[in-house]
Amino acid sequence: MSYPFSLPPNRCQSRNLEPAIDARTMEIHHDKHHGAYVNNLNTALEAHPEFHNRDVEWLLRNINSVPENIRTAVRNNGGGHANHSLFWELLAPGGSKEPGGALAKMISDTFGSYNAFVEKFNQAALTRFGSGWAWLGMDPQGKLQVVSTANQDSPFMDGNTPILGLDVWEHAYYLNYQNRRGDYIKAFWPLVNWDAVADNFKATR
Ligand SMILES: [Fe+2]
Repeated sequence: MSYPFSLPPNRCQSRNLEPAIDARTMEIHHDKHHGAYVNNLNTALEAHPEFHNRDVEWLLRNINSVPENIRTAVRNNGGGHANHSLFWELLAPGGSKEPGGALAKMISDTFGSYNAFVEKFNQAALTRFGSGWAWLGMDPQGKLQVVSTANQDSPFMDGNTPILGLDVWEHAYYLNYQNRRGDYIKAFWPLVNWDAVADNFKATR
């Protein structure tokens, strides 16, 4: 999908994520925050038809070839669009509750165990100062990595491919959890649909 970018439907609201994530937070998060990223990305690209056939992943992977006068806008809003689009697909009650198959094996081989992976991911999410994301992604050598990014920076910008992400901006949890980011992180895991993560994993190979 390329310019003009559009806000994906709010599939999360129709899925019941409460009490982990309340419906009001999800509505504002999707409609207002993600909506603004999409609008601002389109505004930035409007006068640049040379990028109108590029998808958001290409724009982020090639952010340095985007003209300087719109680079920050594309980085922040393109990142915001890509990050949230992936995030919504992962939040689904139902589906597999833990990784299986080749992904489960690679997580164990890389991190020692599933629990060790979760611990590492939680640390990345907890220690991200200010706003940002924690990620499980695939690096260009085909190795799994846990990383965190600031603001709406995308793992694509570093050549990595995100397969699982957690939004730790306060807008993702403040109504329900206020300053208790750790409680929000804990509530996130039962929502993860590992079938969606597995699809992302397969697409990287
Ligand atoms: Fe967000």
